[in-house]
Amino acid sequence: MINSATFWDNVADKYAASPISDKDAYQYTLDRTRSYLRASDHVLELGSGTGSTALLLAGSVDTYVATDISPKMLEIGQRNAQEQGIGNVEFVATDAGDAASEGAAYDAVLALNLLHLVPDLPAALANAHAMLKPGGHFISKTICLPEHGFPLKFHAMRTALPIMRLLGKAPPVFFYRIDELEEAVQKAGFEIIETGNHPAQPPSRYIVARKL
Ligand SMILES: C[S@@+](CC[C@H](N)C(=O)[O-])C[C@H]1O[C@@H](n2cnc3c(N)ncnc32)[C@H](O)[C@@H]1O
Repeated sequence: MINSATFWDNVADKYAASPISDKDAYQYTLDRTRSYLRASDHVLELGSGTGSTALLLAGSVDTYVATDISPKMLEIGQRNAQEQGIGNVEFVATDAGDAASEGAAYDAVLALNLLHLVPDLPAALANAHAMLKPGGHFISKTICLPEHGFPLKFHAMRTALPIMRLLGKAPPVFFYRIDELEEAVQKAGFEIIETGNHPAQPPSRYIVARKL
């Protein structure tokens, strides 16, 4: 089985070229996220991919550090930032679960479409918590298990995952129920202040939490 960084390196070009699947849901959560940011903010994004969201939010904040486990994803982001003349985004290769080295330096930490991919959820949440200033926001979006019913497409994907993993065609994926995920966020020392499913099915849980 290939490791996560190699898997994401291998698919980085394809990921960068693929369109957003639900533009309305994306725009809604982008707008909600922007509403929590201030011009003086220092923002950290975990699992930023090619930095497409980072480049859209960078103009609303002071500095933005986009991190990812895949150097190839970050290379694409860096190139796009240069092409668009965006100078306040730094791209750094790191694992979301690694211990925070900079202390509580950030006003907001983002983890969008990431938490279902990290093998140690409590470690990633503890890391996000440690990197935030008191009162700072942790904003995440995570594909979760459907709350009602079990759409065929989702069932087929889940069944195929172990085989795809063996073939190097899928990364490790961990499916949480919404209540489990929210409990983990709260246990890490956050107060949840906004939630929603965007898209609704299968639920992509948008959670805004404040560091206690
Ligand atoms: C589904 S993509 C989401 C990218 C971006 N956040 C977005 O919403 O478009 C998941 C990203 O998480 C990264 N990733 C996976 N496991 C990671 C980990 N343990 N630490 C940091 N990044 C990770 C992958 O390299 C990939 O770029």
